[in-house]
Parts: sequence; C-alpha cells; structure tokens
Amino acid sequence: MNSIMKPDVEILDCHPPADDMQAEVLHGLQRHPKHLPSKYFYDGRGARLFEAICETPEYYPTRTEIGILKDALPQLAAALGPDRWVVEPGSGSGIKTDMLLNALPDVAGYVPIDISKAQLAAYAQKLLAAHPVLRVRPVCADFSRDLDLPAEIAAPVIWFPGSTIGNFSPPQAAAFLARLRRWGGGAGELLIGVDLRKPRPVLEAAYNDAQGVTAQFNLNLLHHIRRALDAQLDVEAFVHQARWNDEIGAIQMFLVSTQAQILQLGGQRITVAAGEAICTEYSYKYSIENFQALAGSAGWQTRQVYTDAQKWFAVFHFR
Ligand code: TRP
Repeated sequence: MNSIMKPDVEILDCHPPADDMQAEVLHGLQRHPKHLPSKYFYDGRGARLFEAICETPEYYPTRTEIGILKDALPQLAAALGPDRWVVEPGSGSGIKTDMLLNALPDVAGYVPIDISKAQLAAYAQKLLAAHPVLRVRPVCADFSRDLDLPAEIAAPVIWFPGSTIGNFSPPQAAAFLARLRRWGGGAGELLIGVDLRKPRPVLEAAYNDAQGVTAQFNLNLLHHIRRALDAQLDVEAFVHQARWNDEIGAIQMFLVSTQAQILQLGGQRITVAAGEAICTEYSYKYSIENFQALAGSAGWQTRQVYTDAQKWFAVFHFR
C-alpha cells in the first residue's frame, strides 16, 4: 500500500467476543411476543437502504437535524472553543460530523467508535483525505458496553446525532447517558440529536414511506438472517409495519407474517401464526423537558437546546 496516498490509521482494538448471531436470533424468536435483534439491520445492503431512507420525503429527522446544526454551529463553535476532541459513538454519520469538524476552531482530534473495523478504517481514510491535519484515533468497540477512551483525550465533546438514543428503551438510554458522563470525566460535554414527539400521522409516515424503502430495510433483516444462518423462512410472506405506540411513546417496527409458517433455524422449528407480528425496532420520541430530565438523571446539565421552527427535532448541548 502506498503510505503517502493512504496513510495507515492505527485502530485501537477493543472488539468484544464475536456475537453468537444464531443464539440471539433464536432467543428472540422463542420469546412471546417475538423479537429480532435490530443490530442485524446493518449488513452492506442494510446500510445502503438506511441512507436511502434518509433521502425519502417522509423521513424528516435527518434533514431537520442538518438544518438545526447549520444554524447552530456558529454559536456552538463559540461555546465549545478551540482544542477539543470530538468523540463519536457509532461513526459514519458523514455529513453531520463533517459539518461539526469544519465548524469547530482548531479541533484537537476525532475519535470514531464503531463495532465494524472495516467501516472504521474506510471512514478514517476518507476523513484524513478531507482533513489531512486532523488527528484521528479510531476505536473498534461496542459503544453500548463499558470502554476506556485513549488516555490523551481530555474534556471530550461527545457527539451522538441521528436520534440513535431513541432506539434504546428509556432505562437503557439513562444508563448509556451515565456511561457517556463517565467518558467525559468532569469536563466533558455532550451534543446529542433527539427526535421529538409530534402528531402521529407525521411519525407514522416517516417510518412508512410511500416508495417502500423502509419496508425493504425492515425486510432486509430477514434476508440477512436467512443468508447468514442458512435459515429456512419465506421472506415474501412477511410485510413491514410501523405503528405509534402511545403508551410507551415510541414508533414500533414489526415484520408481520401474512400466513401461518414454520421457520427452521439452527435445528429448531419456530411456528409463526398468520398475522403474527415480530418486533424489530423501537424509536422512542421525547419532549424537550422529558429528555432534559432523563439526561439530568445521568448527571448532564443543559447548556443550550437548539431546535427547528416546528420543534420536530432537537440538538441538546449538555455539560
Ligand atoms: N435511528 C433511526 C430512527 O429511529 C433508525 C430507523 C429509521 C429505523 N427507520 C427505521 C429502524 C426503520 C428500523 C426500521 O429513526
């Protein structure tokens, strides 16, 4: 490899032991009601489909968050000041991260944390090509578990866009925010994008786009499982469904079987009834006040809240 064209970036390897996908999938399918682990959405095709979701007219969160950031960045950059490390759990939000790194004065460096070593390496190379002087310190790890940041990093700005926090249940979200608080030490700050509550039709449309991209994304979970685990299941006999669950305050994604069928996987047979729904993902929505309370319980104080004119999405700046 040409070291001038492609500088090697050293990756700090904290990869957890390989997941047992078969055991996890079986466990979820043997529960009542049935669940599938959402982390298996993002194979190569899944990652591309998610990018396509962000482009659909119905999926407002990405473009709303970008708009908020665009307006907020001058004030944010002044509030954060020079010489800050930016730490991003789950790298690869591309354009938003680029905007932040470009806006901060004399950023000290950037720490993407991701479970996929291949994705991290590709992303670090791309970043270094665009910002040759940037110090990039990728960490390969499962960011939802405990982890130590490289010792040189003090007073980090933790950057968690995309309302990914909404895919945790509220108790999991509180525990995760408390963990981020420990990464930050006493002087860390947190910038976090959170999707807000809004009228049900807007929410349901965002997860039910007319082109059916979200449906393909959800169904791709079954394609991935069938291929990776050599499972016998009829993907064609499932349909996508997304529904607002008012009791818990979340959009819930399901795969609904259109007929009775028997799935075969790892030597086990799983019976699925006609009309039975398998839950694949939650996307919790917050009010500004209840998210501040959740973050407050994890030790974060609000410095500023940035939102759009319709109050559809918020970027919180905590310390
Ligand atoms: N973090 C995204 C969200 O909750 C993930 C997402 C968008 C998603 N559309 C989806 C997950 C459809 C599963 C199915 O908005």
